[in-house]
Amino acid sequence: EEHTDLIIVGAGLFGLTVAQQAAENGYHVHIIDVREHIGGNAYSYFDKETGIEVHKYGAHLFHTSNQRVWDYVNRFTSFTNYVHRVYATHDGEVYPMPINLGTINQFFHAAYTPAQAEALINEQAGEYANVEPQNLNDQGIKLIGKPLYEAFIKNYTAKQWQTDPEKLPASIIRRLPVRFTYNNRYFRDTYEGLPTDGYTRWFERMIDNPNIEVTLSTDFFDASQELSKANLRGSVPIVYTGPIDRYFGSQLGDLHWRTVDFKEHRYDEVNHLGTPVMNYVDADVPFTRSIEFKNFNPERTEVAEQKRTIVWDEYSRFASKDDEPYYPINTAEDRERFAQYKAMEDAEPNVVFGGRLGGYAYFDMHQTINSALIAWEKQVKPLLK
Ligand code: FDA
Repeated sequence: EEHTDLIIVGAGLFGLTVAQQAAENGYHVHIIDVREHIGGNAYSYFDKETGIEVHKYGAHLFHTSNQRVWDYVNRFTSFTNYVHRVYATHDGEVYPMPINLGTINQFFHAAYTPAQAEALINEQAGEYANVEPQNLNDQGIKLIGKPLYEAFIKNYTAKQWQTDPEKLPASIIRRLPVRFTYNNRYFRDTYEGLPTDGYTRWFERMIDNPNIEVTLSTDFFDASQELSKANLRGSVPIVYTGPIDRYFGSQLGDLHWRTVDFKEHRYDEVNHLGTPVMNYVDADVPFTRSIEFKNFNPERTEVAEQKRTIVWDEYSRFASKDDEPYYPINTAEDRERFAQYKAMEDAEPNVVFGGRLGGYAYFDMHQTINSALIAWEKQVKPLLK
């Protein structure tokens, strides 16, 4: 076997980006992932029956204003001209999201101008102007006033956290953007789109290099396999993108996450929702939102026009040990514990920790790629001979 300069644990976007950079610079890289596919949470597959691209770990929309990241990703894929928009069902009506002038005028059965709508929201939020928010409920009302908060935010947030917002910390929402125009384009970034021939083809092209070897279905903590933590013992530089607490044997306790469960429905209809994402913001619907995957790719006309479709309902809850960790909960206790784990990295000079699991943070794809490009230059490259 050829020598290996670098082991990468995790074939998600962080690991793939570092691997691509290292291989391009002539280093031999071996990536392992415990899953049976590359791409981490951004992985997608084409459904056998319908040809619809399904994002296995939930809807992934690429967007960025970072020119370097945009140029980088365009080396491996082109992007469609998809523009993300979200709607919400509330009390038997469908509203545009995020809350904008269209939402406000529909909700109040009015024709306010931007200035009138802004004055109204300020007045409604003013009710709590002198209240020091004790919980998320107070904070929401203080930001956008009771009517809009209670209609669009309160129950949705309760479902996301499976917790009464009066029992959630105010810090979860620092701001609730309200737009006083009819612009309901979801992202404000310079660039957005979906990879033309799917996420997985993009990722395959990133590692299409003879210097890169990939071994799937392999757990770094399984001591019976060659590329395990126990066997490597720091002999080769490692980029570790798994959970940071797990790396240290969870000796300081677990970091907490929320997870998402998906319930799939198949319909013999051309279109079921009429849009890619529908939020359900009321308490009587148990899931937070539905995703209709074919609507992400209207340019794939044959797939889009067939009389079959796939919809996933998304249920949010606290993750237990065996669940996929998706969103960091980030209580004060979690942050403290993370800082302690972070300090333990100093004892591992041959290991670079990165990615969303290694950093106990939510990163969008473009942020993950950006941080991986920086980590490659500043931390990984200096470790390689
Ligand atoms: P990622 O989790 O992708 O990869 C880590 C890899 O390490 C995994 O493949 C895992 O199996 C592997 N691993 C862990 N432990 C291991 C072990 N012991 N041994 C071997 N391998 C191990 N972003 C965006 O820009 N737009 C969007 O719309 C969305 N949407 C979205 C929805 C949901 C539900 C989530 C959870 C996330 C998003 N994201 C997103 C964020 C996006 O998923 C994220 O930026 C990247 O997946 C992060 O890539 P990483 O490589 O950091 O982690």
